[in-house]
Amino acid sequence: KSVIFSGIQPTGAFHLGNYFGAVRNWRDFQTRIRNDHIDSQLLFFVADLHSLTMPQDFKHLANQRAEAFASLMACGIDPDQAIIFFQSEVPEIPKLQWILSCICGMGQLNRMTQWKSKANLRSDADISEELGKVKLGLFTYPVLMAADILTFNATHVPVGGDQSQHMELTRDLAAIFNRATESDYLHAPKTLLTPTMKVLSLKNPEKKMSKSDPDEMSKIFITEDSKSIRKKINKALTDSIEGKLTYDPENRPAVSNLIAILAAAEGKPISEVAKMVEDFSKGELKEAVSQSVVRELSEPAERFGELMKDVETLDRISRRGSERAREIASRNLQEVSKLTGMGYW
Ligand code: TYM
Repeated sequence: KSVIFSGIQPTGAFHLGNYFGAVRNWRDFQTRIRNDHIDSQLLFFVADLHSLTMPQDFKHLANQRAEAFASLMACGIDPDQAIIFFQSEVPEIPKLQWILSCICGMGQLNRMTQWKSKANLRSDADISEELGKVKLGLFTYPVLMAADILTFNATHVPVGGDQSQHMELTRDLAAIFNRATESDYLHAPKTLLTPTMKVLSLKNPEKKMSKSDPDEMSKIFITEDSKSIRKKINKALTDSIEGKLTYDPENRPAVSNLIAILAAAEGKPISEVAKMVEDFSKGELKEAVSQSVVRELSEPAERFGELMKDVETLDRISRRGSERAREIASRNLQEVSKLTGMGYW
């Protein structure tokens, strides 16, 4: 039986990048599995422990977690079909992380690119001083991610391209563990790359759309009303190239981003949508993107509002999700503990 597993950090309500880059794709798996009666276990979680690897305002974190959970459900993840849970409510994960930490080389982590970009290392400064400021949690982030996946012995992990390197490490650690314990207990999980390309900032196509971007006009949340969505898309950056509109991420990143968003919202291949809009003016392109995004987000926005009004129900659903997740996690950790000569109670 396949186990499809993925997570998302609790940066509050989701933006278009989270939606097209992750959650809508998860919902498509859910739909396919239901319609085709495929015998698969779906698990989706809020990676709240991972969010601690960057400075957080702890006062707001509880609310951001709740918003992330509500966003998952608002985007159509169904707690009756998928186990939805909070990472911090499954203590088996950090236990496996410790075991994996003890077989993971510093060099393997040193090769990872994410901590370097998130730590903002200054290339002109004394490197050992710069490294001294990097938090241990940020450096070992990929081991926690491997622990998430291997705690559930997942077979398939749908993620964006930015997570591929972490997936390779996960497979490496599973193989090292199996060799060390002379077993084949941990699966090597397959990466299922999200088909949508990276959604970029509406104001600066050199950056991806990100919750932490201080420019409100750069990002669209699934909770926004149609007026505000239209305003942001109308003010989105384009370029000064005249003539036909073309999909050319290299030379026309801003226009290409809008075409990619339109294609994602329409559920059509980029090439088809690029052909469809080639004779549009930039204004007409924005109008088409607005219409399509407003249509796609109207249901999630409405559901999100309803869910956040009933925090008790949300709590009940998340508690049940975490309990179901722990049933699977504890079975696997029992076995891992046995294989490593550790106790499990
Ligand atoms: P996170 O929270 O950064 O992002 C969640 C997923 O969304 C994708 N994504 C995007 N896709 C397109 N455009 C964007 N602007 C954009 N921003 C984010 C990411 O590729 C990702 O798939 N480390 C993970 C969370 C995690 C995880 C795991 C995932 C922790 N443990 C185990 C899978 C399995 C992360 O920070 O994702």
